[in-house]
This record gives sequence, structure tokens and C-alpha cells, in this order.
Amino acid sequence: MTTPDLVLETASAQVARAREAKAKRPSIAGFFDEATNTVSYVIHDPASKEAAIIDSVLDYDAAAGRTSNGSADLIVEYVKANDLDVRWLIETHAHADHISAAPYLQEKLGGKLAIGREIIRVQEVFGKLFNAGSDFERDGSQFDHLFKDGETFALGAIEAIAVHVPGHTPADYAFIFGDAAFVGDTIFMPDFGTARADFPGGDARQLYKSIQRLLSLPEDTRLFLCHDYKAPGRSEYAWETTVGQQRRENVHVKEGTTEDEFVAMRTARDETLAMPELIMPSVQINIRGGHLPEPEDNGVSYIKIPVNAV
Ligand SMILES: [Fe+2]
Repeated sequence: MTTPDLVLETASAQVARAREAKAKRPSIAGFFDEATNTVSYVIHDPASKEAAIIDSVLDYDAAAGRTSNGSADLIVEYVKANDLDVRWLIETHAHADHISAAPYLQEKLGGKLAIGREIIRVQEVFGKLFNAGSDFERDGSQFDHLFKDGETFALGAIEAIAVHVPGHTPADYAFIFGDAAFVGDTIFMPDFGTARADFPGGDARQLYKSIQRLLSLPEDTRLFLCHDYKAPGRSEYAWETTVGQQRRENVHVKEGTTEDEFVAMRTARDETLAMPELIMPSVQINIRGGHLPEPEDNGVSYIKIPVNAV
């Protein structure tokens, strides 16, 4: 029989559990950049106001060779309006479709610029491909911090963990903050599928394994995606889903899809995809932590285009 005391105790335990769960739930704001289909995020701990910014976008007019800060300024405004204390500026990987605004945001808001430590491999590959001179260090030193797989950190009371999820590139990381995972370019919305794996150093087999790792998180884990392109038949952009929904519905990797089936599908599909419009400037700038290449003797930075390279 349940005594009144026990009922009381149970109720207070429930309140404590609810409080504890709430304390582990970060506040999340997504900023969608329609020009590059990229979602940037500001994540913060409501109690301490400590914040991280993931995958910011610097606007770039490719024809004019000119950058601007309109998208990044929306983040600056949000951070200031909410009185946040930016601790981290995180890149899930060296993006090939947009330029990072992390250096601009760092100047305005502070925080440590960070990426996965396998960026060194990406710097080697692209340093060679773009024939970058010896002044281009291939040791990750353009970043303030290089995460390793399984590394933990925190925003106030909210614990965070960096998870290496290679496949799209060798240096892709996902970042789990409490009940929310920021998965970078691994999976997209369930009706769209997964990220391409055909860039230099990409690997569809590794991507499948990385996705399985993410889908082994608890069912109700919130997943926040790096891009959305609207699947055919969907009228609105979307970038939030859950592990359970992905397991049940993802058109490329739902439960029951074998590794070989995925690799065959991904390889065939990647052969049909054009290179992203901004790949040349994006890669050369993002492997430098979002900084432009060293200016030449006239004080101007240039982006190279390898012509007919293998
Ligand atoms: Fe990407």
C-alpha cells in the first residue's frame, strides 16, 4: 500500500528529476542561410549563459570576390540580445559549400575556434591540391583547439562530447550537448537522406559506420542538421529531427539498410552531383580556420583555381 509519505517523496523525486533533465537541455537557436542551405547554431546553457556557435556562415559574392557579414551579424545580435558568453566557435568540418565566419565572430564575441584534430589530414590533402606554399602550416595551428574523439567539455551545467564521424570528410565531428546532437554533414532530414562522401578523403563506408554510431544514441535525442535542401514535395526548410525518426524513416539509412546497400546507393548518387558552387573559396579559406590566404605583395588575398587537375 502506498503511504502519503511515499507519495510525497515520489513527487519530490519526480520534480528533482524534471529539474535535472531541464538543466541538461540547452537552448538552441538555428540560423538558416538560404544562399548556401546551411544552418548555423547558437547553443547555450540557460543558467550560466555560456554559449557555443556551430558552423557560422560568411556571406560571399563569388563573382565580385567580396565577403560581407550580414548572416554573421544576425548571430552577433542574437548573442548580445540574450547576453550570452561565447566560449566556443566550433566547425563540424572544413566546409566545401560556404565560408566560415568564425574569425569575424571571434573578433566580435570572443570564444575559442575549434575543429576536429583530423583537420590536419584535410589540410595535407588540400594544401597539395591547391599547391599552397610552405607558409601554409598543415598542423591545425590556425585553430585554437583541436578536438579528439570522445573529448568532453561543458557549457555551464550542460555536458558536451565531441564524436568523430568521418565519411563526408576525414575530419567530421558531431557535438552532443545534453539531449541535443549537432551532426554536421552525416545525415540530413529523413526525407532527404545523407551527406555526399565523394570529396577528397571522403568514404561512404566510413560514413555509414559514423551514422550508425549517431543512431545508437537514445531514441529521443534531438538531432540538428548542418544543411537542408527541401526534399521533393516538402515546401518548408527543416533542420531538426530525432534519432527515433531517423531510424524509422531516413530514406538512405533507415533500420534494415545494410552497409553494402548504402555504399552502392551513395556511390551511384555522388557520381551525379555537381561540385558545390563555392567549393574553391570555401576549402581554401576554411582549412585556414576561416582566414583568407596570406595577402600577396600588393596586400590582396587571392583564391586559386586548379585547372584540369586530377
Ligand atoms: Fe560539408
